[in-house]
Amino acid sequence: MTQNSRCIIKVTFCVVILVSLGQIVSCEHEDAEPTCFSEIYCHGRLLDTIQMAKIYPDSKKFVDMKMKYSPNDTLAKFDLFMSDFKEKKPTREDVQHFVELNFEAEGQEFEDWRPEDWVEHPKFLDNIQDRDFQRWAKKLNHIWTTLGRKMKDEVKSHQEHYSIIWIPNPVIVPGGRFREFYYWDSYWILQGLMLSEMHHTARGILENFLYIVEKYGYIPNGGRIYYLARSQPPLLIPMVNMYYEFTRDATFIQQNLPTLEKEFDYWMTNHSKVVHLDGKNYTLAVYGDRSQGPRPESYSEDVESSNIFKEQNKKEAYYSELKAAAESGWDFSSRWFITNATNKGNLTNIKTRSIVPVDLNAMIYWNAVLLADFNNLFGNAEKARYYSDIAEQWIEATKAVLWHEEIGSWLDYDLHNQVKRDYFYPTNISPLWTGCYDKSEKDSIVRNVLKYLQNKKIQYPGGVPSSVEHTGEQWDYPNAWPPLQHMMIVGLNNTGDEYAVRLAYELAESWVRSNYKAFKEKDAMYEKYDSTVFGVGGGGGEYEIQLGFGWSNGVIMDLLYRYSDVLTVDDPSLLLTSSVQEAKVSSSGISSITTALIALLVSLSAGFIGICIYKRRTQHTSFLNGRRPSSTKYTELRNISKKANASQWTRNVETLVTDKGRK
Ligand SMILES: *[C@@H]1O[C@H](CO)[C@@H](O)[C@H](O)[C@H]1NC(C)=O
Ligand SMILES: *[C@@H]1O[C@H](CO)[C@@H](O)[C@H](O)[C@H]1NC(C)=O
Ligand SMILES: *[C@@H]1O[C@H](CO)[C@@H](O)[C@H](O)[C@H]1NC(C)=O
Ligand SMILES: *[C@@H]1O[C@H](CO)[C@@H](O)[C@H](O)[C@H]1NC(C)=O
Ligand SMILES: *[C@@H]1O[C@H](CO)[C@@H](O)[C@H](O)[C@H]1NC(C)=O
Ligand SMILES: *[C@@H]1O[C@H](CO)[C@@H](O)[C@H](O)[C@H]1NC(C)=O
Repeated sequence: MTQNSRCIIKVTFCVVILVSLGQIVSCEHEDAEPTCFSEIYCHGRLLDTIQMAKIYPDSKKFVDMKMKYSPNDTLAKFDLFMSDFKEKKPTREDVQHFVELNFEAEGQEFEDWRPEDWVEHPKFLDNIQDRDFQRWAKKLNHIWTTLGRKMKDEVKSHQEHYSIIWIPNPVIVPGGRFREFYYWDSYWILQGLMLSEMHHTARGILENFLYIVEKYGYIPNGGRIYYLARSQPPLLIPMVNMYYEFTRDATFIQQNLPTLEKEFDYWMTNHSKVVHLDGKNYTLAVYGDRSQGPRPESYSEDVESSNIFKEQNKKEAYYSELKAAAESGWDFSSRWFITNATNKGNLTNIKTRSIVPVDLNAMIYWNAVLLADFNNLFGNAEKARYYSDIAEQWIEATKAVLWHEEIGSWLDYDLHNQVKRDYFYPTNISPLWTGCYDKSEKDSIVRNVLKYLQNKKIQYPGGVPSSVEHTGEQWDYPNAWPPLQHMMIVGLNNTGDEYAVRLAYELAESWVRSNYKAFKEKDAMYEKYDSTVFGVGGGGGEYEIQLGFGWSNGVIMDLLYRYSDVLTVDDPSLLLTSSVQEAKVSSSGISSITTALIALLVSLSAGFIGICIYKRRTQHTSFLNGRRPSSTKYTELRNISKKANASQWTRNVETLVTDKGRK
């Protein structure tokens, strides 16, 4: 392994270069390099020996430890240590002893830091009508003070002793084992920070990212050198836009526009692929990786799972697929498995680089639109046109390759087998979130999508699951993840269609209530939840469930804010009746949600059945509370179709009656 990890492997790599005249496709040979140059934290004999000894339950622990001596001294000490063992291998205890002598405990790079701009009672709290939710939001606001991290000055002067990447400003971290910044997490963290009026902290986080783009040309997965070879879903430009929407600070955009363009360019040049379809060529983005070796922070796991591959080049390809999946944020999921053109199999069937993901392309479109807007803001008409052309191109390619009228949704595309991947993932509808579709076709798209979602029965007691595959991977069934709920809710609401708006509200309601129940019981926010059980955290995957938790808090704060006048902890029947009464009294000042609620109630005389079904669902879930049910994993979706089907409503009533009869 020592020899292998040092040898350089030739891989063929295709680079797509977008030029203003068109697209030139070129292929070149590339030497894959280690995830970073550190012979302590990224590759080499010391890392291999220590990580393969598995001295800690979480492999990330070692690569987060600070070196006591310089890298050269540490390597020299390591060679001396190994010389004692000659042919035999050091035991786990020997290795642990070496680590304890030469490294300090993890988390030494930070000092306690309370964000200076933190306020006890940000104004958005006053909008939240429900008193219990208001108190909860106040507690979430308080959690920011525990997730703030400021780097010690020593990190800057002795960067080589640390795996952490030095950045100029303090950050808000996700929490738990994630004790550094994470790229896409920060989008939802920032959403919360903006509501918490922590504009200065938010700006500092953005400046860190801009600093990193200037330094590396892109943003790594997270703030550690061992994450350097891969990025994460591109949300810096939307984050800057969010900051602008809250602060109207156009100068901030103007000063940093070239850096934002630089990051976008990285996605264009390093993550684009040409898809040949029906005699045409389309450019779309895929996740990728070009580095060598297993993930340093999950080293032994990757080495062991790669044992199924005999040849070194197959192992390397496998490592790259794992790292590409980590780049997608979905590490890991059947979403990236390819077996006989299906999503079946296990982690060894991972083929992330051969799948065109809907959400990444929806985000690329969003980035291009925002760059066009930003350039227009400062009168750069030509550049604005360049970016809006790319946006148009992405709409066209997304429609041609990813949209399926007969399914009623966008789907990931399998480049290898040239087939659509007809499996439910919340990201399938992410173009609604970013607007990546032809607006003149909106009505028909939304109608199709609503039918699709209804058929898929996505409304579970604890949120929408990441998939319907039971693989044990953490981005699969039954886990429900905060960013995916948010994408769906905002996306559906953005359409303005009354049924989509109503569904968005229902999804928000069950998500918020489920998180609230878990919070009340455990006094904690989880990084993910169990979609099948109301009010319970998720599981599976490579590590223990983490608490904190940056994006969970941001999503809840945003939903409490968006639905501040309608969301309640209590039984929704109270809400519905009071909304109707309110509407009778005064027709002005009703929110669009309330209007949609009433429209639904009035247009379907069966409105009350929805309430009954909801009650049944809450009873059902409290009955299951704390246990994982083996069957009946979903609850009924309330009818959201335009053609409200009388027989379906009748069936619902019948089940309800039989249920009652049994009690
Ligand atoms: C560490 O050792 C390498 C080669 O052994 C040498 O090139 C490098 O200059 C040394 N670095 C320091 C900081 O001494
Ligand atoms: C992106 O692609 C270019 C062109 O192949 C290459 O030179 C560069 O190193 C790549 N950047 C990264 C960060 O992989
Ligand atoms: C698509 O790209 C291929 C090369 O990859 C080229 O041979 C073909 O002519 C292109 N087709 C069109 C319609 O541009
Ligand atoms: C894949 O297809 C091959 C050939 O049709 C078959 O032998 C194999 O069992 C299939 N594998 C799975 C996992 O379905
Ligand atoms: C994963 O799938 C491969 C076939 O692709 C199989 O050989 C292997 O045993 C499976 N591993 C596990 C842990 O099930
Ligand atoms: C839904 O979208 C509309 C714009 O279409 C917006 O005005 C409204 O605030 C949004 N509501 C929620 C709850 O996000």
